[in-house]
Amino acid sequence: MRWRNRALLPPAHLRVYYYGALNPDAFTRACERARVEVTIHGLKPEHRVLDIGSGIGNLAIGLIGFLTGGYDGIEIHPEAVAWCQQAITSQHPHFRFHRADLASHAYNPHGLGAPSAYRFPFPDHSFDFIFLSSVFTHLLPDTVEHYVHEISRLLAPDGVCVASYFLLNDDTRAGVDRGDSFMAFDVRHPSGLCRLHDATIPEAAVALEETFVQRVHQQAELRIQDIRRGSWWNGKAHDQDVLTVVPDRT
Ligand SMILES: C[S@@+](CC[C@H](N)C(=O)[O-])C[C@H]1O[C@@H](n2cnc3c(N)ncnc32)[C@H](O)[C@@H]1O
Repeated sequence: MRWRNRALLPPAHLRVYYYGALNPDAFTRACERARVEVTIHGLKPEHRVLDIGSGIGNLAIGLIGFLTGGYDGIEIHPEAVAWCQQAITSQHPHFRFHRADLASHAYNPHGLGAPSAYRFPFPDHSFDFIFLSSVFTHLLPDTVEHYVHEISRLLAPDGVCVASYFLLNDDTRAGVDRGDSFMAFDVRHPSGLCRLHDATIPEAAVALEETFVQRVHQQAELRIQDIRRGSWWNGKAHDQDVLTVVPDRT
């Protein structure tokens, strides 16, 4: 993607905040990565897409010219969502962004609402494709449980949800304990359901127990169809575990 349309390039400070680089190529790659991820998981042009934690619009921008079914992004970072509304929705009205004023030490410290009680502002079964890229990696267990139930409510009967995680199981926990993971995750949360990277900013990075994630999906009548294992825990790269999830109401 070339930045012929500079209006769709987020301001430098937001690009640095989200992708750690001033060079527009880092943002281009984030748009491309998101587009490829949803495409390999079967996104069709006519699908209705919900992007939870839409950030500075990397998936939306990656889908301009492809997606006709409509896109809704939910985001808690005030400046990120304001930029997406002003830069993307103004030119492409079927890409909509919604601000949820939810508390997060990492992304919205002055937020008023509790994410663990947030009802997404859409009717049941509104979406064919729900995407969370690097969002469950910033949520505490009570919010994860609530969001998974909301995803179950919002997915169409033949819909799919693709979401990334840091999943703790015997292998990954051993890697973390050896010091091989790219973040320390040495803070044990009192719930026993996750480990944190930083006790003072709990949502900075969260690794969740895989058994907890499996249980929550089962309780929400969702089936984990596939887990693509990342290598975030063994020192090779930063890539996360990616779950493909479908309704299971049989
Ligand atoms: C690491 S960024 C990922 C952004 C984008 N999805 C991407 O892949 O580049 C995490 C995003 O999740 C958002 N977020 C954090 N807590 C959230 C919550 N409770 N509900 C919705 N979004 C949240 C943050 O504001 C931030 O934009």
